[in-house]
Amino acid sequence: MATNYWQVVVLAIVFLSTVSAARVAPFSIIQKPDGAVNVFDNSKYGLLQISNGLALTPQMGWNSWNFFACNINETLIKETADALISTGLADLGYTYVNIDDCWESLTRDLKGQLVPDSKTFSSGIKALADYVHGKGLKLGIYSSAGVFTCQVRPGSLFHENDDAATWASWDVDYLKYDNCFNLGIKPIDRYPPMRDALNSTGRAIFYSLCEWGVDDPALWAGNVGNSWRTTDDINDTWESMTSIADLNDKWAAYAGPGGWNDPDMLEVGNGGMNYLEYRSHFSIWALMKAPLLIGCDVRNMTTETVEILSNKEVIAVNQDPLGIQGRKVTVSGTDGCLQVWAGPLTGNRFVVVLWNRCPEAGTIEVSWDTLGLESSTSVSIRDLWKHEDVVADAVASFGVLVDSHSCEMFVLTPKLSRFQA
Ligand SMILES: *[C@@H]1O[C@H](CO)[C@@H](O)[C@H](O)[C@H]1NC(C)=O
Ligand SMILES: *[C@@H]1O[C@H](CO)[C@@H](O)[C@H](O)[C@H]1NC(C)=O
Ligand SMILES: *[C@@H]1O[C@H](CO)[C@@H](O)[C@H](O)[C@H]1NC(C)=O
Ligand SMILES: *[C@@H]1O[C@H](CO)[C@@H](O)[C@H](O)[C@H]1NC(C)=O
Repeated sequence: MATNYWQVVVLAIVFLSTVSAARVAPFSIIQKPDGAVNVFDNSKYGLLQISNGLALTPQMGWNSWNFFACNINETLIKETADALISTGLADLGYTYVNIDDCWESLTRDLKGQLVPDSKTFSSGIKALADYVHGKGLKLGIYSSAGVFTCQVRPGSLFHENDDAATWASWDVDYLKYDNCFNLGIKPIDRYPPMRDALNSTGRAIFYSLCEWGVDDPALWAGNVGNSWRTTDDINDTWESMTSIADLNDKWAAYAGPGGWNDPDMLEVGNGGMNYLEYRSHFSIWALMKAPLLIGCDVRNMTTETVEILSNKEVIAVNQDPLGIQGRKVTVSGTDGCLQVWAGPLTGNRFVVVLWNRCPEAGTIEVSWDTLGLESSTSVSIRDLWKHEDVVADAVASFGVLVDSHSCEMFVLTPKLSRFQA
């Protein structure tokens, strides 16, 4: 398919609004000045290129690495599945329970097949999948497109068909495919064989590429995987989180239903950032249509961690079916530390995050023209952290004072024009 659906929709809105704004679009989209950020731009996205039917919205769930690293076992995975249910997180959409590195035995068996570590996963992965499925959740697994995984367990390079068949026989639902011990072979040669191997199992298995952004996967992974890491690993610091957000932003026009940019898993709840910083992390990840994969110990979360991860209105932004990645649209202040991030949502709405990355509080303002709206458009504004409608009829712009390292997150709903009413 040469043109894609959303491109057509967006072009149609722009075209029709130019021709007869009042009758066709509920509000008009103005021409952007050259060089300005176009929040609708998804021109590099190809709809559902890998056609496994998955990832219509970004994946949500949990992954073992950020908190537990190699200290994992089947008891932990089961208790995590239990906790996703008992905390209500599963009901909010966090359904993938993803095992990262260290589930494998150090060697393949005599037939060359992968086997689970006999001490920590003694009941086997199939039994674990059955347990997780019994809770209405899905099970994810991990390997590397190399001769070893990063923790030096057997990798799947040149074993793609065998390993995909093994995982499918265990009823696995998701693969995170890492980049260690890759023999210097280019990612574009190492990642597609696993796509084909997964496909040939006949089981729909979510394919999450993790080549750390080294070969700009947004440029080629749309027809390879359901998500692709755009950066090196995140760590539980403000510096890491903010720098990764900026790196991921570059690829906004390439994401969409079926294939998402992945700025790595969440650190919310791991203790290295404060409440407001974690709120910023979660808000920006949601706006960027990033995978929402919890990286803390969900068996033992603070009230604040639960509050952040359970914000239904923020999750709804991430899971909005329009599937256009929000992006950084304007900056002001020292080194551009007062930032406006925004993107379109279904229902002709916009999400706006006013993000203060400065060391002191500051006022941040979004003006309608940066969203492509006529400044006379009347807009109602809902605050997604206060869970309140804050303004009924703003025109031209909207600004608030934002604490240092905090953000405020809003949904903007432009009103129907007078001509249409
Ligand atoms: C395999 O790929 C074909 C062609 O893209 C697609 O139609 C089919 O749904 C895929 N099957 C699975 C299980 O991913
Ligand atoms: C399983 O892993 C968890 C988390 O690291 C640990 O607390 C627990 O002791 C382990 N259980 C067994 C049986 O090894
Ligand atoms: C965390 O990430 C930052 C920024 O990417 C990096 O400078 C730092 O070395 C990392 N820290 C650790 C402990 O890996
Ligand atoms: C629960 O988390 C707190 C920190 O929030 C920590 O001090 C405590 O040791 C944890 N408890 C368990 C059982 O892991």
